[in-house]
Amino acid sequence: MKLKNLVLGLGVTLAAAPLHAQQAPVSATSPDGTMSVELTIDGDGRAAYSVNRKGKPIIAPSKLGFLFTDVAKVDRRLSVTGQEVRDFDESWTQPWGEWAEIRNRYRELKVHLKETTALARVFTVTFRLYEDGVGFRYEFPDQPNMAETKIAEELTEFSFAQDGTAWWKPAFLWNREEYLYNKTPLSAVSTAATPATIKLADGTHVALHEAALVDYSSMAVTRTEGTTLRANLTPGAGEPKVQKAGAWKTPWRTLIVADDAAGIYHSHLMLNLNEPNKLGNLSWFKPGKFAGVWWNMIKGEWTWARGPKHGATNENVKRYIDFAAANGIPHLLVEGWNVGWDGDWFGNGHDMDFAKPTEDFDADMLVAYGKKKGVRLIGHHETGGAATHYENQFDKAFKFAADRDYMVVKTGYVTDAAQMEREDSDGKKYREWHEGQWMVNHQLRVIEAAAKYKIAIDSHEPVKGTGLHRTYPNWVAREGMRGMEYNSWGGKNPPEHEANVVFTRMLEGPMDFTPGILSLKGEKDSDILSTIAKQLALYVVIYSPVQMVADTPENYAKYPEPMKFIRDVPTDWQETRVLNGEIGDYVTIARKERGGEGWYVGAVGDEEARTVSFKLDFLTPGKRYKAEIYRDGDDADYRTEKRHSIVIESKMFVSDDTLTMRIAPGGGFAIRLVPLK
Ligand code: NOJ
Ligand code: CA
Repeated sequence: MKLKNLVLGLGVTLAAAPLHAQQAPVSATSPDGTMSVELTIDGDGRAAYSVNRKGKPIIAPSKLGFLFTDVAKVDRRLSVTGQEVRDFDESWTQPWGEWAEIRNRYRELKVHLKETTALARVFTVTFRLYEDGVGFRYEFPDQPNMAETKIAEELTEFSFAQDGTAWWKPAFLWNREEYLYNKTPLSAVSTAATPATIKLADGTHVALHEAALVDYSSMAVTRTEGTTLRANLTPGAGEPKVQKAGAWKTPWRTLIVADDAAGIYHSHLMLNLNEPNKLGNLSWFKPGKFAGVWWNMIKGEWTWARGPKHGATNENVKRYIDFAAANGIPHLLVEGWNVGWDGDWFGNGHDMDFAKPTEDFDADMLVAYGKKKGVRLIGHHETGGAATHYENQFDKAFKFAADRDYMVVKTGYVTDAAQMEREDSDGKKYREWHEGQWMVNHQLRVIEAAAKYKIAIDSHEPVKGTGLHRTYPNWVAREGMRGMEYNSWGGKNPPEHEANVVFTRMLEGPMDFTPGILSLKGEKDSDILSTIAKQLALYVVIYSPVQMVADTPENYAKYPEPMKFIRDVPTDWQETRVLNGEIGDYVTIARKERGGEGWYVGAVGDEEARTVSFKLDFLTPGKRYKAEIYRDGDDADYRTEKRHSIVIESKMFVSDDTLTMRIAPGGGFAIRLVPLK
């Protein structure tokens, strides 16, 4: 139903008057009544929204609006011209994922606004209210005073109603998304990337992020005062932050709200705010594990470039294929297989040719060798930041991969932030941010080009995830965080890293974390700050449909018993339950395999030893399950040579049981639960 002219008599008088009469607020609740939003217009005609949960304020009145580079801003002298409300409830199936079935139930409130100035620009703010949060976006129709739009800044505020503790990583620094999480009072945040997760003073958890980032620049947030954050869009290269022609809309600005950390993880709000699958049947993509000619490069023992230490040689690749085949691993990533790596490739991808193997990598022979053994290769496209150079070879690059039956290609953009190279059709060069509007569009062009060849993409140094894998389910994983590679180098990930990542980065979607370094050794024989049991736990705790078995075959040969868990654990799930967890301290996750009855449980802790208890009530009542438990040895400790101490034991359980497990400092555990026939 359309309620036009909600507050009558505003238009004419207010266009001339400097002050606006206050308008009645517009509001709506989620279908279950938990969440509510209200949009108000103050005496200056400024629009503000607020969000309540169970009647308690979460977001206090927060401003809306835009600055433009060429015309007057939109932020005051606004009036509400109408509203529409509709309810939606539907379930959909994920082709792969952490949950097979997703319910999408919301109430939508559209608030139509119009400037009372001569420009008389109109737009709509659309809210979608879920039981577990709110998404809202701006929609500007095509209109005479806005044929072209040049956004200098989005003025959307998130004014939290209470202070709290925030877990966030800095935005706009040189190393892109690859920073550790800060834990600070919300009132001490500076400029943060999203997702940022906040535990308010009363314990309520809120995750701030965005959904459906398409043809717009990625949003960071900057604290303006107190507990107020404001949108801070990624810049364009010497141009407006966002440019649009005709009608345009923003991504959804999202607030997931729950009682606890587990509740935040259980939300499907981000996926639900994205459009359904545009690619149709995706049966060609099968979730699975992959080995890689990789860790020895990350350790500095092999090189991507040609020469005496070249990793991607026929001999090495054949040995890795043998390893993958012997362990039921269906894919092998090979990096440094192509011409273009010689010299300094960081920030320099001009010589990269993704259809031209080096002379010591016989692609066709290796593909045939793999085929015999049931192992397919994963291609690697490291652009070194030369993004236009990559686009210019999309077709030959993806054809090369498809002709060789690759199912997945891993991309990479290693260059400093704001150093991505774009070239326009006149040959003019620009330096783009990794998450600016042009790169957001570039990444989608990669996905669409790959989809034409039935290839899935695992993007490194990517644009952050905003749920687009619902719409483009060949976008199967991405990095966008400090993954395992940092455990090779100086400044290793601390033990609490993964317990931070689960409740922040993982809200974006699958991560190619590259788990399973059972040797616990990085470059120069340095120690990784983890126990061996924790490395197994990561296969359950950090989700990706393509999950790496990242250590070398030689190292895995030393740990045959723990290796069994890596062989057994699936990468596609019917259902996921976060059983307990506190951000940055610990988390336990249970997942049911898709197409089977087995459950897998993984837990990671931080630098402290702790004990966690959880019920097994997710198991089917009346069935008995054999549990294969991989837990920290009693003397296990990430700080000592006992980091390899592990106990592997079997026990029987039923759904009434409660399990109490100890986690060592820097440790974790992994459990496989198989029902008895
Ligand atoms: C950084 C990526 O994260 C890593 O996985 C890759 O091996 C190197 N870049 C080279 O592309
Ligand atoms: Ca990286």
